[in-house]
Amino acid sequence: MKVTVYNCRAFDEKELFERFGEELHIELVLCPDAPDKENAALARGSECIDIITSKMTGDLLKIFADYGVKYVTTRTIGYDHIDVKAAKALGMTVANAPYGPCGVADYAVMLILMTIRKMKRILERTNIQDYTLKGIQGRELKDLTVGVIGTGRIGRTVLKDLSGFGCRLIAYDLYENEDVKASGVSYVTLEEMWQQADVITLHAPLTDENRHMINKETISRMKDGVMIVNTARGGLIDSEALISGIESGKIGGAGLDVVENEFGLYYYDRKSDILNNRELAILRGFPNVTVSHHMAFYTDDCVETVVRDSLLGCRYFVEGKENPWEVR
Ligand code: NAI
Repeated sequence: MKVTVYNCRAFDEKELFERFGEELHIELVLCPDAPDKENAALARGSECIDIITSKMTGDLLKIFADYGVKYVTTRTIGYDHIDVKAAKALGMTVANAPYGPCGVADYAVMLILMTIRKMKRILERTNIQDYTLKGIQGRELKDLTVGVIGTGRIGRTVLKDLSGFGCRLIAYDLYENEDVKASGVSYVTLEEMWQQADVITLHAPLTDENRHMINKETISRMKDGVMIVNTARGGLIDSEALISGIESGKIGGAGLDVVENEFGLYYYDRKSDILNNRELAILRGFPNVTVSHHMAFYTDDCVETVVRDSLLGCRYFVEGKENPWEVR
């Protein structure tokens, strides 16, 4: 069997693909670029393609389907970049390759700490030998209420990690989790979340229903100085509303591993380019907003797991076996 891998990174993934390809007896076509109309022909003869967070529209999926591709796996947890409905209509199966939640959870906790301790400003100052203290006084987690939205694998790990800091923890999810309740964390309504949380950390997938769940109106109901951390998906936050909230001081800081319209930017060297994502430029410029380029997942453990499981899913699919990663 043959799998065409897109966005294959030479410096960390290639060797892993070669190793797991050999172990699983899979012939691989490794392409460093994102899938598009021009390079779709590389998938001729492959039943499966293996991608990351590049947009897979209905039109693009149709081109792959015409080349005989029946299975699209994404080396990510989120799959909102794939038009799953269109894929199903074309008779294609979509799957993801989730890795352990600890890498993203660690990163979210780090962004929470960086945000409440004003770490961006501290680093900027020490870099230019400005050793003053004015404006960089932080807050302590033990004095804060942290609200976790989405108590799936990552959100639950964040709750567990934060339990050692002595902060008050509240949570919101469409479905309450018994283990979370047993740990003493209270589920609240979204309204209560906005009213009570000093820090809000997002761990829900992006859906049509929750797009821009953080918007002008919900921000107005939050506590003054609220801090927002997003390691889930950029589309959960209306960037314009976030910018206005920061400008007015209503929002005291943010840690953003993801932003709206990041497609086409992240994982490329664009330093000489004029970019068309104004929100990102503005957010990056604020001294109280830490932005990173969608890399909370990026640990040795996560990379190895996604490469292996994305290929393993292809093998299960081709052999008609039960596939735990299939998006239903
Ligand atoms: P999961 O599927 O285990 O948990 C998601 C939870 O969100 C579920 O409990 C679900 O009921 C809940 N949920 C769904 N819609 C909701 C809504 N409207 N409001 C509140 N809760 C809602 O997913 P997991 O593994 O915990 O990942 C969470 C998200 O993290 C992913 O969907 C992905 O977008 C993001 N992610 C980001 C990464 C990064 O590198 N920054 C890496 C991995 C995941």
